[in-house]
Amino acid sequence: MLSIVVLVSGSGSNLRALLEACDNPLYPAKILAVGADSAAAGLEHAEEFGVPTFVVSEGNFDSREAWAERVLEHIRFLKPELVVLAGFMKILPEAFVEALSPGLINLHPSLLPDFPGANAVRDALAAGANKTGSTIHLVDKGVDTGPVISQRELEILPGETQAELHERIKVIERKHLVDVVKQIAVQEIKLEEIAR
Ligand code: GAR
Repeated sequence: MLSIVVLVSGSGSNLRALLEACDNPLYPAKILAVGADSAAAGLEHAEEFGVPTFVVSEGNFDSREAWAERVLEHIRFLKPELVVLAGFMKILPEAFVEALSPGLINLHPSLLPDFPGANAVRDALAAGANKTGSTIHLVDKGVDTGPVISQRELEILPGETQAELHERIKVIERKHLVDVVKQIAVQEIKLEEIAR
């Protein structure tokens, strides 16, 4: 059983998909806790499923490094095998990434290396791209630059708004995340090999 900590900043629809998957006794992973950098709406999903939550707000710390160190303390206490960033919108310092690698993965709403950063859906539309998708990648010290684990494509429809496109990407992302976490759990995907 793969043990996971999920970090969120937003509505947590991808977290919810993972919570629902983990609720099935045949699914080979378990969420130990869900962390957030603010009172994110997504934490409610964890509470509904009886999964413990923790919040560490960056504003309460003198530096990003001190904030990340506190997040890391929570994670070290829980000892998960995998940490999943599911809509966690903070850039993590190198020491945090090094402490958890290769067991730290991120979900991103574009086909990386295209459109990294916090506004991937807006940027894909602004660039006139005709396809985008979902990427799950290892986190490294850059912003959305780590080795790609898996990608799923989606055609961009003419006249589609940013909200419409993001919602269609999220539908793909939810299944993608559940599938990839399962593949990691059963060692069909080996993160140490992708990290090499
Ligand atoms: C997802 O689309 C995820 O890929 C994106 O935030 C959304 C979270 O949705 N992450 C990033 O943009 C990271 N750069 P959710 O809160 O409904 O799961």
